Amino acid sequence: MNAVEMKNVYKSYENGNIKALNGIDLTIGEGEFVSIIGPSGSGKSTLLNMLGALDIPDSGSINVAGQDLNTSKKLNEFRAQKIGFIFQLHNLIPNISVVENIEIPMFTQKLSSKEMRAKALKLLDDVSLRDKADIMPNKLSGGERQRVAIARALANDPSIILADEPTGSLDSKTSSKILKQLIDLHEDKNVTLIIVTHDMDVAKLADRVIEVLDGEIISAGDDSLINSKIDV
Ligand SMILES: Nc1ncnc2c1ncn2[C@@H]1O[C@H](COP(=O)(O)OP(=O)(O)OP(=O)(O)O)[C@@H](O)[C@H]1O
Ligand SMILES: [Mg+2]
Repeated sequence: MNAVEMKNVYKSYENGNIKALNGIDLTIGEGEFVSIIGPSGSGKSTLLNMLGALDIPDSGSINVAGQDLNTSKKLNEFRAQKIGFIFQLHNLIPNISVVENIEIPMFTQKLSSKEMRAKALKLLDDVSLRDKADIMPNKLSGGERQRVAIARALANDPSIILADEPTGSLDSKTSSKILKQLIDLHEDKNVTLIIVTHDMDVAKLADRVIEVLDGEIISAGDDSLINSKIDV
């Protein structure tokens, strides 16, 4: 089974004036690690939001982890069980503590509150923020918030991780550590890892680099575009 199958996906904003995605065809295999690169405004975040069922396309089909996102009536469940989303903007919940933020995705699992807390603290430890567990997110630096967001994305043991500039606001040492953690998960648990990045050094770590320009995939890092041209 493929982790992702997008066929002829279009998305526009502002009554069609902004064409964010212009006919995206993309297949990503289960357990693959791909990076998505492209200039600012090219449609990378829009693409990722579609995969996480946070936004719906104007047309085209999207299948993620075996679910047809156009017809599925259980998108909340799908997101909670399958997806770990690391946003470009962190979206931590401001009025609950750091450790409680990480526990949120665990509510769909059958864990006691003690087990949830232990798991959340372990995840915080992995991003070197164990000592910040009880404070509020607005007291953290941008990089620290990003690390909390990463810990939260891993809390539901997702089969697919969607990461939008996960290391954008981090220094190089923390950035390498976070990347290593994501890549370890991909390697050890066959998690499909999809990372949007501006950083070519990060992009090159992936099995495949997908290049987006003006809402189109101009290179998929394999021969899929060549094949599709032969088909027509
Ligand atoms: N909610 C929205 N409403 C209106 N326009 C939007 C919205 N979201 C994105 N856009 C527009 O769609 C286009 C693609 O945006 P997107 O956020 O996908 O770019 P990006 O490749 O992620 O850029 P960056 O590298 O700066 O994060 C841009 O022109 C952007 O202004
Ligand atoms: Mg973006």
